[in-house]
Amino acid sequence: MLKKNPRVILAPSLLGADYLNMEHDIKEAIKHGAKWLHFDVMDGQFVDNLALGVGLFKKVRARFPEIFIDVHLMVGAPDKWTNKFAQLGANLVTFHHEALRYKAAKKLIKSLKLNYPKLHIGVAIKPKTNVEQIYEFLQDIDVVLVMSVEPGLGGQSYIDNSELKIKKIRDYINKNFLDCFVEVDGGINDRTVDRVVDAGVDVVVAGSYVFSGAGSIHKACNRIIHGDKKNSI
Ligand code: DX5
Ligand code: ZN
Repeated sequence: MLKKNPRVILAPSLLGADYLNMEHDIKEAIKHGAKWLHFDVMDGQFVDNLALGVGLFKKVRARFPEIFIDVHLMVGAPDKWTNKFAQLGANLVTFHHEALRYKAAKKLIKSLKLNYPKLHIGVAIKPKTNVEQIYEFLQDIDVVLVMSVEPGLGGQSYIDNSELKIKKIRDYINKNFLDCFVEVDGGINDRTVDRVVDAGVDVVVAGSYVFSGAGSIHKACNRIIHGDKKNSI
C-alpha cells in the first residue's frame, strides 16, 4: 500500500474535473501532489445518476500509466464490474457494503484476491450505515471508504459528524493492528478537511473543491495535502 505523504493522500475525484479539459486538470493535480485519482462509476440504479464509464477509464489509464487509480463503484451489481476494472488496470476497486449481502461480499473479495493478487480492495459505507457493520471485512480489505455525503453527486455538503465514524474505524483498526487505510469521500474542502485528517483518515477524496472550489488546482491540493490551520474551523 502507498504510504502517506506528508499528512494525507489526496485522491482528486474526476467527477469534479472539467470533462473537456480533463488531461490538463489531471496533470495539474498530479503536479501539485495528488498521488491517486478517484474514478466514480455510477449505474443509475444503486444511485440516481450515471457517471464515468469504461471508455474514459481506458483513456485515463493509457495517458497516465503510473498513477494509482481508485475506482469507486456505486453500482448495484459490483461483481459485474470489479473484474472489468481490475483487468483494465485499476489499482484499487471499492464496492459498496450496501450493494451485496455478507456472503456475496466475502466471496467477491476472495475471488478478487485470487485472480488479481496486486489489486487493492475496498469497501464503502453510506452515511447511514453503521461502522460496526464493516468490522468483519477489515481484515480482508485494504481500504474502507467512509462516505460523508449520500453517494451519487459531486458538490454536496459534508454531513456533520462523519468524522466520528472515521475516528471509530481508525481506533478499531489501530486496536486490532489491521493494515487497512481509511478514506473519506464527499464535501471535503478547506473548511472540512482538517476535521477528517484529525480523525485519522489516510486518503481524502475531493472533487469540486480541487477542480473548481479554491481558485486553482494548485491551491486546493496544497490546502488538503499540507494543511493550513489558520483557515480551518
Ligand atoms: C459522490 C462521489 C464523490 C464525488 C465527491 O457520490 O462518490 O467522489 O465526486 O465530490 P465532492 O468532493 O464535490 O463532494
Ligand atoms: Zn467517490
